Amino acid sequence: MSSQLQAPKGVAEYVPPNSDAFLSVREALCMPARNSGYEYVELPVFEDTALFVRGVGQSTDVVSKEMYTFDDRGGRSISLRPEGTAGALRATIEHSLDRGQLPVKLWYAGPFFRAERPQRGRYRQFFSVGIEAIGSEDPALDAEVIAIANDGFRSLGLSDYRLELTSLGDSNCRPAYRELLQEFLRGLDLDPETQARALINPLRVLDDKRQSVIDQMAGAPLMIDHLCTACSEHFDAVRSYLDLLGIAYILTPRLVRGLDYYTRTTFEFSHARLGAQSAIGGGGRYDGLMSRLGGQDLTGIGFGLGVDRTLLAVEAEGIKLAPRNPLALFIVPIGEQAKSQAVRLAGEFRTNGVAVDIAYGDRSLKGAMKAADRSGARFSVVIGERDLANGTAELKDMASGSQETITLEALLPTIKARLL
Ligand code: HAM
Repeated sequence: MSSQLQAPKGVAEYVPPNSDAFLSVREALCMPARNSGYEYVELPVFEDTALFVRGVGQSTDVVSKEMYTFDDRGGRSISLRPEGTAGALRATIEHSLDRGQLPVKLWYAGPFFRAERPQRGRYRQFFSVGIEAIGSEDPALDAEVIAIANDGFRSLGLSDYRLELTSLGDSNCRPAYRELLQEFLRGLDLDPETQARALINPLRVLDDKRQSVIDQMAGAPLMIDHLCTACSEHFDAVRSYLDLLGIAYILTPRLVRGLDYYTRTTFEFSHARLGAQSAIGGGGRYDGLMSRLGGQDLTGIGFGLGVDRTLLAVEAEGIKLAPRNPLALFIVPIGEQAKSQAVRLAGEFRTNGVAVDIAYGDRSLKGAMKAADRSGARFSVVIGERDLANGTAELKDMASGSQETITLEALLPTIKARLL
């Protein structure tokens, strides 16, 4: 006997009835970007591996340990995209989007892949909504990007989350700080693996979750205290724009993100009720990334929001999202002739933009009414053989249970009027 086939380990699937809420979350997270001048890009799910090595950084876990990399049939190294920024910038350069009006403002949504250890809220295929604003270092744009993420979460009714914010400096002030931090790290008692990390990417040690390291890092120098004047002024301006927008944030100088490209403004949204995988979104600025990918030397800023985790947050806060496209009518035909009427009526309703379904399979009236109940439709209509002769049907309001006889012609206008 063949064994039962299952989805791959660590993949989040959404099937009814949960899939409706998944779509609502995805749409809610996209909407504020669409309302703010961002244009849609549909990007490939796999890219040349070199893009992520150059774009995200070889020293990150995301690239060195978590990519799904394989040779395609032509022997090219391909990787499933672990994140969206590198691909969005590659497309911007390839299609010369940055040769027109700046900033270029793009949004995208789709699945991303990281071979992480699966747990609640951490999947190997996850869904993310992202935006990128390329070609302007205006601090008001940093505030806009953060506000768009915040608006998406708010529009779903979420409130138990916080925004963590810092500045990671730039090529002017970060090298000196990096040396300072490395000097500090050299004086600590660290295991060889952490020492190696300290050499390649010392900032990551600030993010170490082990108590022994946390204790030793208590007096570590922080980037925020060593910003150059330009970075400091930029960060002050971002903060004042956030104040202007009424967006609260927590200054988190030890915030370290899992991707290497960040400079200046860096942020993360974390939800209080999600346990270890609390980040529902994050992003920041990336001076230098465009030129590293072969484009103009333009800066940019963006975010990625986790749809899966945002849905978990919605559930954790007990928020009930309205069904997206509820059925207005469920048609129950009794007999062959009634079936023809049902098919005709369903066509007419759907052409008029009213959602209907039919009881298929010649079920008993009782079974069909159960299906009508389960469908969540506002109204059901039973068309019996006897009704057909009179051109009528029995219309039932599913919430109140009240019933009435109605002509088939009056059905569409009546239901349309009652839906208003
Ligand atoms: P990221 O923080 O790595 O950023 O991912 C964005 C969001 O995707 C996270 O905050 C989290 O909610 C969700 N996420 C990440 N990994 C997983 C996972 N394994 N399972 C479930 N959800 C996950 C980026 O990807 C950057 N490209 C964001 C960005 C855009 N920065 C600048 N522009």
